[in-house]
Amino acid sequence: MADIARSIIQGMQNRRSIYSFTNESTISDDRIEELVSQTILHTPSPFNSQSARLVVLLKEQHERLWDLALEVATASVPPEQLENLYKPRTAMFRAGYGTILFYEDPAPLKPLEVKWPMLIDKFPEWSDHSSGMHQFALWTLLEAEGLGCNLQHYNPMIDARVSQEWKIPLEWRLKAQLVFGKPTGPPREKKFEPLEKRMFVHGR
Ligand SMILES: Cc1cc2nc3c(=O)[nH]c(=O)nc-3n(C[C@H](O)[C@H](O)[C@H](O)COP(=O)(O)O)c2cc1C
Repeated sequence: MADIARSIIQGMQNRRSIYSFTNESTISDDRIEELVSQTILHTPSPFNSQSARLVVLLKEQHERLWDLALEVATASVPPEQLENLYKPRTAMFRAGYGTILFYEDPAPLKPLEVKWPMLIDKFPEWSDHSSGMHQFALWTLLEAEGLGCNLQHYNPMIDARVSQEWKIPLEWRLKAQLVFGKPTGPPREKKFEPLEKRMFVHGR
């Protein structure tokens, strides 16, 4: 197997959900920016529409995000859920170093929907696929740099408040939040469903 394939597999194996981390980083902010920009440049998108928009929040800006998430939850969920779920979870995420917000901009898809009307219901789905690819790439890259990450979905609850805070166009659709910091513990145990019921090869 080529070395590059071996490295990619190793990166995929090391990418796990890590929930326990500190507000430090194992790499510089410049390096984080480089990983984000390389991900944006080299992740595929439907018809090369390049609809992904990534917002990186570090340090106090990251803490602000999770303060806002708690504020919004306080105003919108029942008290018991707030105490048992939202308070501890937002505190856990706030303890990290940064969060990357994954948006999709519908504007680049508009001309494609006109040109390919028979695919109109497919474009939002493919745009989601592309966002997922960006999420996976960055999750894997950040963990390869020694950071611990987890993927959250506080959208749509936080969308309006976040758009207002960071002046993000309202049309952009928030898809996911990747939270990261310096890990303080291992990932949880992971069970694998048997490959025999998940992979089918014909014509070998
Ligand atoms: C599309 C998608 C949505 C997910 N949503 C969440 C989420 O909202 N909160 C969370 O803590 N983890 C979320 N996860 C993480 C999964 O729970 C996790 O990847 C899975 O349990 C496997 O564990 P691993 O990441 O350690 O390999 C999501 C993962 C994917 C791919």
